Amino acid sequence: MKKILAIVLAIAMIASVSMLAACSGKGDTKSTAAEDAKSDTTEKATLTMATNAYFPPYEYYEGEKIIGIDAEVAQAIADKLDMKLEIVDIEFDSIIAGVQTGKYDMGMAGMTVTDERKQSVDFSDSYAKGIQSIIVPEDSEITSIDDILAEGAEYKLGVQLSTTGDLYISDDYEAAGKSADLITEFQTGNDAVAALSTGKVDAVIIDNEPAKSYVAASSGLKILDTEYVAEDYAICFAKDNTELKDKVNGALKELIADGTVKSIIDKYIKAE
Ligand code: ARG
Repeated sequence: MKKILAIVLAIAMIASVSMLAACSGKGDTKSTAAEDAKSDTTEKATLTMATNAYFPPYEYYEGEKIIGIDAEVAQAIADKLDMKLEIVDIEFDSIIAGVQTGKYDMGMAGMTVTDERKQSVDFSDSYAKGIQSIIVPEDSEITSIDDILAEGAEYKLGVQLSTTGDLYISDDYEAAGKSADLITEFQTGNDAVAALSTGKVDAVIIDNEPAKSYVAASSGLKILDTEYVAEDYAICFAKDNTELKDKVNGALKELIADGTVKSIIDKYIKAE
């Protein structure tokens, strides 16, 4: 019996020694991880860009990849800064908050510079111009924004949530004494245009270049000839992140000056 106990104890001792060895093995793994982390820092730093990738030709999917004017301008900026670009596709409505809290380094999403947004984030120089346009069915009786805002008119409108199209028309509807219920806020421009195609709304207010892409991709829709609002697009940063903003702005200035930005825009927007 004593012999058996001795053997059991011996086994237990061997087991604990090998466990210790295993633990130190783990320690080795840890130090390898630390080395990895070390070599990571010698690799390129990552520049994360938050966008909403349903906004052609600024950002949209080609297969799994997000391409477009913003994606290419951001890549050119990252190359200049010797950084690795990572594009994250989120709801448009969440971009500013994500940038403010530092979850993303910058927001680039055909985003219009507005005084209200400037209270939450800082903007780079503008790199492109946008126009809020109105899409209607081909046989619509609506011919201008004045028709939409006319006294007694009760048109149902589709917009992308929290975009300037949404903000401007909501203000104008309120000023005209019209019900906010007439405006439906969709998560993406695609959804708003789909609702227009199926007659759920009478018109969609959205940026002109995406409007052109959407109208080209669906039948029976047209863009009104009138401009609703003209705007500037820029990249946004957290207010305390002036270091990055200045770096990105410096790169952007060079890319505008040497014609890179223009050639990227021309590649995606063909002159009519
Ligand atoms: N220019 C408009 C705005 O800033 C719409 C931008 C929507 N962008 C997008 N990627 N979905 O409010």
